[in-house]
Amino acid sequence: MLLGAIVSKGHRVLTGITTTGVPHLGNLVGAVLPAIKASEQKNNTSFLFLADYHSLIKNSDSELRHRSSFDIAACWLACGLDPSKVIFYRQSDIPHIFELAWILSCLASKGLLNRAHAYKAATSGNEKNNTQDLDKGINMGLFNYPLLMAADILMFKADLVPVGQDQKQHIEMTRDIALKFNHHYGDILTPPEAFIDEDTGVLPGIDGRKMSKSYKNTIPVFGAEEELRKVVMKIQTNSLEPGEPKNSSDCNIFNIYKAISTKEKIDNFQKLYEEGIAWGEAKKILFEELNSFLNPLKEEYNKIIKDKSFVERTLVEGSEKALSISGPVIKEVRQALGIKGF
Ligand code: TRP
Repeated sequence: MLLGAIVSKGHRVLTGITTTGVPHLGNLVGAVLPAIKASEQKNNTSFLFLADYHSLIKNSDSELRHRSSFDIAACWLACGLDPSKVIFYRQSDIPHIFELAWILSCLASKGLLNRAHAYKAATSGNEKNNTQDLDKGINMGLFNYPLLMAADILMFKADLVPVGQDQKQHIEMTRDIALKFNHHYGDILTPPEAFIDEDTGVLPGIDGRKMSKSYKNTIPVFGAEEELRKVVMKIQTNSLEPGEPKNSSDCNIFNIYKAISTKEKIDNFQKLYEEGIAWGEAKKILFEELNSFLNPLKEEYNKIIKDKSFVERTLVEGSEKALSISGPVIKEVRQALGIKGF
């Protein structure tokens, strides 16, 4: 394939998913489906990857990491990713990313990283518990996490990064670091922009906070139907009685429904809220909608997971394409830094 020709036009869209745990609805509507849609636009080149080294920050279970990488890869493929049209790879197969992360760490000020949300949340957790050492239990991976993410993006000169609202700060940091690099060493890196879908970027989990593996509030997408029903029944609501009109905009059930349904159905559901639908009934409607949204994907997924070697081959081929781009970029970066032969 003439990769160079594709790459020279349109946007370079890049997004990754950290490989901890099973794929959930937040991954699907927040990252996988919008990224696949963007990849279908003719002039875009998409870089979609498994952020397996990111998973080391929070998880020391190697078995889980391995299984999760496979499940998430199968999820991308089940959702319609066409490996011949995108560059689909494991982060760990591209050593240049980690080299770039070190380079970036020597440019980024520590103060910038002190302000990163994930690190701040961890230190303020310690503060709340009256722990004297605010850095207690925090590893350097968590602290450096925005730098690895910046390297993921800058490595491929991606200019558009579809992410959830919570990742916006990381993209801004990536821009800052890219501009700093360019200021010192010449115009080499591309400052990216975040692409945030306002409707799906903030999908709530069953407790109303952002759906995230870290909060354990996710809706798994490829599990058994009964499991799905159980999770849906656990979604938190307020205590309004059947018959009392309900506000849909701050309702977790409604907001999840909105992310997966059609305009017409959403309008009908909205009317039922105004008429005072009972929470049990609303959950049943959501469950059925989720089921019909997920069933065709599940069917595909179940086919794909039977063929491990297909998944492996796809990723190996993807990493070859990725390396053919990261190789020349890291060479350009090294040259600019004066790290080169005599
Ligand atoms: N940090 C992202 C998340 O947890 C995953 C990720 C890693 C990513 N590297 C990336 C997303 C680069 C976009 C671009 O959701």
